[in-house]
Amino acid sequence: MTTSGTWSDGDRYECYVGRWSRPVARRFVAELPVPPGRRWLDVGCGTGALTAALLEVAAPAAVLGLDASPAFVRHATAHVRDDRAAFRTGDAQALPVADAGVDAVVSGLVLNFLSDQPGAVAEMRRAAVPGGLVAAYVWDYAGGMQLIHRFWDAAVQLDPAARALDEGVRFPVCAPDRLRRLWAATGLTEVDTGEVVVPTLFAGLDDLWAPFLGGTGPAPAYVAALGDRARAALRELLRDRLPTRPDGSIPLSARAWTVRGRVPWAAR
Ligand SMILES: C[S@@+](CC[C@H](N)C(=O)[O-])C[C@H]1O[C@@H](n2cnc3c(N)ncnc32)[C@H](O)[C@@H]1O
Repeated sequence: MTTSGTWSDGDRYECYVGRWSRPVARRFVAELPVPPGRRWLDVGCGTGALTAALLEVAAPAAVLGLDASPAFVRHATAHVRDDRAAFRTGDAQALPVADAGVDAVVSGLVLNFLSDQPGAVAEMRRAAVPGGLVAAYVWDYAGGMQLIHRFWDAAVQLDPAARALDEGVRFPVCAPDRLRRLWAATGLTEVDTGEVVVPTLFAGLDDLWAPFLGGTGPAPAYVAALGDRARAALRELLRDRLPTRPDGSIPLSARAWTVRGRVPWAAR
């Protein structure tokens, strides 16, 4: 199973991205055309943001959340207390579920981290019933996920070598045309892409910066590897560049690109 060693602390993930992935998940689920009472699979469930949104919004019969990180699976199990939800470790590229085992398969903020993206989407298709929904979203790292985009812009200004780590550069799949092609190439039909944009308001620079010190996720892992002076310089450059209101708050926004399609009714 391929997973990044950065996905190991659920509380730190919640402070960094989890607090923004939750509103994105709710908006994403609200637009999915799946009736109540269905069985769902959440691929790369992490700490359970998307599973929680399904339980709140989609009235599912059951949700199975799978993630490669045992620590995140433990975190989700401890925090999402609902008889309809279950969490297990599992690889997105070899899903431990039966063919046509669920009615809908979703995945939030995961696809770009996988080494075999076509294989992962094929697995999502295999797991869903004929006519079932296969849907996902990823951050717009190259622009609209402003927190991470601005972080890497500042990091690259101070250290051009950081460009190789910039998620906006590393993850070309995070664009609507690429997602659409991936879904279509997997034989999914009625393919559609869209966006979800949520405000990400920080109380001040400390509120924005502290999660980068947690080491969970690619940008925090980069910060963790810096020396004290380089880390302080990056914080100061960010301070200079961020839009800051008179009360010190920093209003940014986060965009996720969404994609969905259906398993054809004809022979699989
Ligand atoms: C950015 S987090 C997203 C978590 C959650 N879906 C959310 O929206 O908050 C990416 C997740 O992908 C998981 N992951 C990475 N590679 C994986 C793989 N091969 N199979 C399953 N999960 C994987 C990580 O463990 C992590 O939980």
